Amino acid sequence: MASDYKADEEILGKAYDAKLMRRLLAYVKPYKGYIIAAILLNIVVAALGPVRPFLTKIAIDDYIAKSNYHGVILITILLFAALLLQSVIQYFLTYYTQLLGQRTILDLRTQLFRHTQKLAVRFYDKTPIGRLVTRVTNDVESLNELFSSGIVMVFSDLFIIVWILIFMFSMDWELSLVSLSVLPLLIYGTFLFRKKVRESYRDVRLHLARLNSYMQEHITGMSIIQIFNKEKEDLSNFSSVNKDHKTANINSIFYYAVFFPGVEFMSSLAIALIIWYGGGEIVQGKMSLGVLFAFIQFTEMFFRPIRDLSEKYNILQTAMASSERIFKLLDDKTMIEEPAAPVSVSSLKGEIEFRNVCFAYNGDDHVLKNISFRIEPGQTCAIVGATGAGKTSIINILTRFYDINKGEILLDGVNIKNMRKEVINQNISIVLQDVFLFSGSIKENIGMNNENISADDIKMSAEAVGAADFITALPGGYDYAVKERGATLSVGQKQLISFARALAHDPRILILDEATSSVDTETEIIIQNAIRKLLAGRTSIVIAHRLSTVQNADNIIVLHKGEIREMGTHQELLAKKGIYFRLYQLQYKEQEIGN
Ligand code: UTP
Ligand code: MG
Repeated sequence: MASDYKADEEILGKAYDAKLMRRLLAYVKPYKGYIIAAILLNIVVAALGPVRPFLTKIAIDDYIAKSNYHGVILITILLFAALLLQSVIQYFLTYYTQLLGQRTILDLRTQLFRHTQKLAVRFYDKTPIGRLVTRVTNDVESLNELFSSGIVMVFSDLFIIVWILIFMFSMDWELSLVSLSVLPLLIYGTFLFRKKVRESYRDVRLHLARLNSYMQEHITGMSIIQIFNKEKEDLSNFSSVNKDHKTANINSIFYYAVFFPGVEFMSSLAIALIIWYGGGEIVQGKMSLGVLFAFIQFTEMFFRPIRDLSEKYNILQTAMASSERIFKLLDDKTMIEEPAAPVSVSSLKGEIEFRNVCFAYNGDDHVLKNISFRIEPGQTCAIVGATGAGKTSIINILTRFYDINKGEILLDGVNIKNMRKEVINQNISIVLQDVFLFSGSIKENIGMNNENISADDIKMSAEAVGAADFITALPGGYDYAVKERGATLSVGQKQLISFARALAHDPRILILDEATSSVDTETEIIIQNAIRKLLAGRTSIVIAHRLSTVQNADNIIVLHKGEIREMGTHQELLAKKGIYFRLYQLQYKEQEIGN
């Protein structure tokens, strides 16, 4: 929940970190050409600004004062040309710097997404989805600002300042010193502003993250909130999170509200000083009117880039913090390692063996202890046990969603750690307790865009598991658009689609985590038939809640608190009169009566 965000979002970080910057610059390297072009254009465009006051001075002193009409026309044309040139260059600058930014973040987002695909399930257990989404969207976006406007515009501001100084000092160095006399005050003010903004910025980030995570969790659980009539409380909790976010923002706005008028004030002060000092010089005949006019314009131009630089500083700071979080995600190596020298296996017969397997989700907290069993190719093994016994965990480790702590898991006699993950995934299909459907057509949800599965295969699988009837009745049939997570389909329908999906992939090994949810008798019969079809001719592990599945299994494993307590066929286990017998009496007897 919200507190999870603390660690990451509270990083104030350095405003500038050379190591991070080097890593960031690697992303713009492919587009070096753009940057060099942009910087060169910037040098030109920055010089065009101070040219205007310079031309004004010539117009006043050399032509207006001497009533030279042609000269005035000439200067007007030059001024216009300078403006035009500046606009054209500015167009290319804006276009290419934005292009640079967009291309860079496209690369970065792709890299991030590819990385999240490789991360192990263990990573997702400990990371809120909202946080990952923030990485790929907001954090990447703030880098865009750095790449598109930040890097190049900092150069532009610096060039403008340098050019103005060159023009000013070459025109009148004494007046230059007068107009720059407010600079120390401005620099001090900027320094103070930066410090305050940095602190308030962290608060804003923190509260935004809280807001996001609250929204994400509570929208996901909206139906529960509505059912329990918790809207009022929910709203009041939200309001308090929202208010904190507002307060943090207002605090940061305060500093801007003080700083910007402050800069404006300094700039006016400098102009007043110029008029006072320059005016005196003119009266004494030591200086021309044109210089005074030029200096007023120079000063106005000079303060804008200084004000902008402090904003650029903000962009830099945001980007540094974002990149730190992005790199932290990219550096996360919670992955299932591919074997260095994989054993080459083409197709599996489907023999499964567990040898003294121990497994824990966290540290030494073993949820599976010393598990050993063997399933011959083509056989069906049922696993039964109370909730939390470790049934789903057995599947999680067989498919290498998680790696085990001790022991060995073998497929066709080969340790799965020495097998390429691709081979494992090609040979095993799983149908999980809660079916996951993607938004897309039913066809795509069954075939999963696997090129080896034809449209006919999809239809045949759907027919075989008994899903065809309801699919063809849907608007659009196999092209019916499934909403996110299959929201518009019933639980039974989703189940059947997932069966069709497994069958279409025709795996050597099938794993079925039966849903406990009860369906109507008719659907129950369809599902039972579907399961029979699915299991036929392949090795399968079934976490069974249905008596029919359990009874027909070649072997039944009774799991209790992470340990195998009994193993055998239905008849053997009944004869034992142990856990299975009691379970049968309690649970399956009912089903028998029900059926
Ligand atoms: P399982 O998820 O293997 O139980 O969790 P199960 O037998 O399939 O239970 P049902 O029938 O579906 O309800 C076994 C233990 O592992 C822990 C659980 O708390 C449980 O005690 N567990 C599970 C984790 O610690 N982390 C997980 O991600 C999942
Ligand atoms: Mg389970």
